[in-house]
Amino acid sequence: MKKKIAVLSGDGIGPEVVAQAIKVLNAIAGKYNHTFEYTEALAGAIAIDVTGNPMPDETLKVCLESDAILFGAIGDPKYDNDPNAKVRPEQGLLKIRKEMGLFCNIRPVTTYDSLIDKSPLKEDRIKGADLVVYRELTGGIYFGEKGRKNNDTTAYDNCEYSVIEIERIAKPAFEAARARRKKLTLVDKANVLETSRLWRDVVKKMASEYPDVEVDYLFVDNAAMQMIVNPVQFDVILTENMFGDIISDEASVITGSLGLLASASMGAKTAMFEPCHGSYPQAAGKNVANPVAAILSAAMMLDHFQLFDEANCIRKAVKKSIDEGIATVDINNQNPKNTSTVGDYIAKFVGESSSVTA
Ligand code: IPM
Ligand code: MN
Repeated sequence: MKKKIAVLSGDGIGPEVVAQAIKVLNAIAGKYNHTFEYTEALAGAIAIDVTGNPMPDETLKVCLESDAILFGAIGDPKYDNDPNAKVRPEQGLLKIRKEMGLFCNIRPVTTYDSLIDKSPLKEDRIKGADLVVYRELTGGIYFGEKGRKNNDTTAYDNCEYSVIEIERIAKPAFEAARARRKKLTLVDKANVLETSRLWRDVVKKMASEYPDVEVDYLFVDNAAMQMIVNPVQFDVILTENMFGDIISDEASVITGSLGLLASASMGAKTAMFEPCHGSYPQAAGKNVANPVAAILSAAMMLDHFQLFDEANCIRKAVKKSIDEGIATVDINNQNPKNTSTVGDYIAKFVGESSSVTA
């Protein structure tokens, strides 16, 4: 199979972790006889430095001409400390989500038995936790009208959702629940927000088409608590943009490190695969960041290409590296390995392991 992949490494640790994902993809290509063609393009603070724009048109063009996008991370502290900055790296990420119509963000949270003691949560609470967050990614308060008024003494961010926006993400979330443990939890704030009440109406209606899926409704404050107290109860979590942002970061601590969490953003025009972590500027260039989230994002990309054996081969190699302690400092502080050492190990295991065939 031949696929064109747009590579947007971005800022901070983005380039280091994406390089490991590409290493692993190349090992897959060699082993299974595929051709992956990469085209690099600028995004984030680096793109601002070079072009003045965090998401240049040229980058969007490269993305549209590709079969998928592999994304690193964007963000730079020099913008965080300037609340009045007009151009910010994060705008680049929001722009690509909107322009590519990436409305369905999928963030799986899986625990590894060998890492169970790395989580700040007690073992008996998290053992067996296996959930996935379906986060709406192109609507809600992130994209509503925002501004200042009354001489800058008032600011507002508008939150809006339409039935169509809710249905189009609820559908893949219901399908995922059907293929998994058949439970879907809608996280909202329907006791306060009108948009949340619309989410409930739509999801309740759709639930009748999925009689085999048990549907649960949780207010986001309660969901945040349940995530810590009893995460094993969750299977598929469906939620709007901002709640999904918060809940998915919270869920990541279950696994022991945000550096393990991959994501896929599916859309009308293309699909993008990116680690859930940010640009982690303190670690940039030090070869210490965990590449597993980026590598597992590449595995999700292979799933998207329907290369399921290949994707599972990567997951097997990642598990092996974690079990063997070939891991970065966030999950192995006794004997930490470098970013590139972990990438090399996983790529080598992929190359050498016997093909997993269906
Ligand atoms: C994420 C990030 C982004 C978000 C930021 C960088 C805009 O936190 O992908 O979760 O809030 O969506
Ligand atoms: Mn986030």
